[in-house]
Amino acid sequence: MSLRVRNAPGLAWGAGGCAALVFAVLLSGPVAAQAVKSKGKSVTGAVPVAAASAPRAGDVLAGARKSDDERCQECHGVDGHGFDQSASSEGRHPKLGGLPADYIVKQIADFRSGARKHDVMTVMARTVDPADIVDIAAYFASQKPMQGDGQGDNPLGRKLFDSGDPARGVDACVSCHGPAGKGIAGMGAASPPIGGQEWRYLEKQLLDWRSGDRSNSRDGVMNRIAKSLSDEDVRALANYLAGQR
Ligand code: HEC
Ligand code: HEC
Repeated sequence: MSLRVRNAPGLAWGAGGCAALVFAVLLSGPVAAQAVKSKGKSVTGAVPVAAASAPRAGDVLAGARKSDDERCQECHGVDGHGFDQSASSEGRHPKLGGLPADYIVKQIADFRSGARKHDVMTVMARTVDPADIVDIAAYFASQKPMQGDGQGDNPLGRKLFDSGDPARGVDACVSCHGPAGKGIAGMGAASPPIGGQEWRYLEKQLLDWRSGDRSNSRDGVMNRIAKSLSDEDVRALANYLAGQR
């Protein structure tokens, strides 16, 4: 929802969930006046809103420095590639290298608003200036794509990833996450790379999507997909994905 609001600032008041009000306004007619008014406002008065909704290209060099100053590198690795400890407790810290910048910005905004919950990351997201996050995201996005350990030959994981299980409502992951989970070019936040990500992190996210502890995907798509995955499916998918080079 927050994504949609950012993309369509003119609709923000309606997207807040007050469908009845939208309907009433549409029926009673002052729509044109409203539109003209808000258009005038966005040109003259509403500069901060316009600035916040128009994505600024991040500064990679500034992001390198800020991600060090803000201590992101301590948990996510200097280049966003973690510490090669996928199966240890450090593996709960996801790799960020090569994630689309708009995906990183969205996650931080979701941690900040509470749409995505995690004790440490909520604090991090609330203390870092959103303008700095744009640079930090550009820095991690500019790093090489994440690489797995090459041990991902898990037949069940591969089958679920490539074909899903239509009988249980599990969509094929490949359609949104791309071949081997490497993301689909140009789709940005709608297609985060997951192939080569840390094993423990992947397992936790799938369990969180399944239980609803994480629920920040658009229209709840990941909750619907993970709903009927068994523990065995989750482990198989994490194995397959963590291994993809
Ligand atoms: C003390 C360790 C720690 C620090 C410091 C830290 N993170 Fe995190 N970060 C984590 C953990 C753990 C997670 C996984 C959260 C979960 O399980 O949902 C995470 C998740 C994330 C995610 C979500 C990744 C994804 O694939 O969805 C992003 C983006 C992120 N961190 C960015 C940052 C940035 C930017 C900073 C610095 C401002 C930062 N982190 C500092 C530990 C940390
Ligand atoms: C219809 C598109 C779609 C399909 C199909 C899909 N996903 Fe996703 N997935 C997404 C989107 C979009 C996100 C990012 C949600 C957000 O904004 O936080 C995501 C996020 C994830 C994440 C968290 C990534 C991270 O860095 O935190 C994992 C893990 C994941 N998906 C695994 C899967 C698996 C496994 C399957 C197949 C069983 C699958 N997805 C199928 C769209 C999809």
